Amino acid sequence: MTTPYAPYPTGRPRRLRRDAFTRNLVREHRLHAHDFIYPVFVLDGEKRREDVASMPGVARLSLDLLLPVAERCLQLGIPYLALFPVVDDPHKDATGSEAANSEGLVPTVVQALKKRFPELGVMTDVALDPYTSHGQDGIPDESGYLLNEATIEQLQKQALCHAQAGADMVAPSDMMDGRIGAIRRTLDAAGCIDTRIMAYSAKYASSFYGPFRDAVGSSKSLGKSNKKTYQMDPANGNEALREVALDIAEGADMVMVKPGLPYLDVLWRVKQAYQMPTFAYQVSGEYAMLKAAAANGWIDHDAVMMESLIAFKRAGADGILTYSALEAAQWLQDHQFVG
Ligand code: PBG
Repeated sequence: MTTPYAPYPTGRPRRLRRDAFTRNLVREHRLHAHDFIYPVFVLDGEKRREDVASMPGVARLSLDLLLPVAERCLQLGIPYLALFPVVDDPHKDATGSEAANSEGLVPTVVQALKKRFPELGVMTDVALDPYTSHGQDGIPDESGYLLNEATIEQLQKQALCHAQAGADMVAPSDMMDGRIGAIRRTLDAAGCIDTRIMAYSAKYASSFYGPFRDAVGSSKSLGKSNKKTYQMDPANGNEALREVALDIAEGADMVMVKPGLPYLDVLWRVKQAYQMPTFAYQVSGEYAMLKAAAANGWIDHDAVMMESLIAFKRAGADGILTYSALEAAQWLQDHQFVG
């Protein structure tokens, strides 16, 4: 249904754009620091900071250096951090067994963050790729095809150890069939009834994840192989609705579409179809593109960053996982009444 509107010259859409105060009044969507989830990369040890070359402004940090970042999120009003571990090679194997180590890096960091900043939400990634010697998100058979059920068993253990360490939300990003229901049952059976699940429901086999794989160190393990037997085909839209429907039926509290800008149509359709809390992940490659173009003086970084973030809101996102969360929240603080 389109809104009836007087034709020109009675109707003049430019009237509403004539001055900043009117634009401010009729603006349909707004960004707020509460819209952001900030993904961070964490390393073992102390005083370790390693810049990620393909993601200017992003670094892998040890816990002691992550704590001030968490504090900054709180100051800016960012409600959640999303933790991604960088695992040293000796801890990687074919089944990603380190993923379920309750004394491993992620549970340790979750515990420390929740102890120090109980009012900051901590979300963890449930997937095996940072822990596997082959860089895949699950356990392969002899031919390299990922075993769905064996992988889920491992993910259940991983999610439980994150929840028991105090994670407020677990986010399965692996795209195995049936994992949301399995994880929900495991969490509930252990009494973790309030641990939320944000499902990476429509996650595409995207080449925009390249810089992330550099950051967690899975690109060299992955080599020339890809994730097309479990992550979605970028050519498919209807299939995303089926994936999301399954995750909701299995108990997902929130759903996600990933990557972000290239998949705004999918985000829109998912929000329209199910009206669930729906999130977009502006992924590493999207972040890298903006930074690279800005570094060349080809675009105005902050303007393009804010424009891309508001696009997610317009397309129906309730929130956005973005490596620009700190910068964007700072921008919002500095430009509160911009028109
Ligand atoms: C791993 C995972 C990936 C991302 C989040 N979790 C990479 C992948 O699936 O290969 C990508 C995030 C990004 O590119 O910013 N399961």
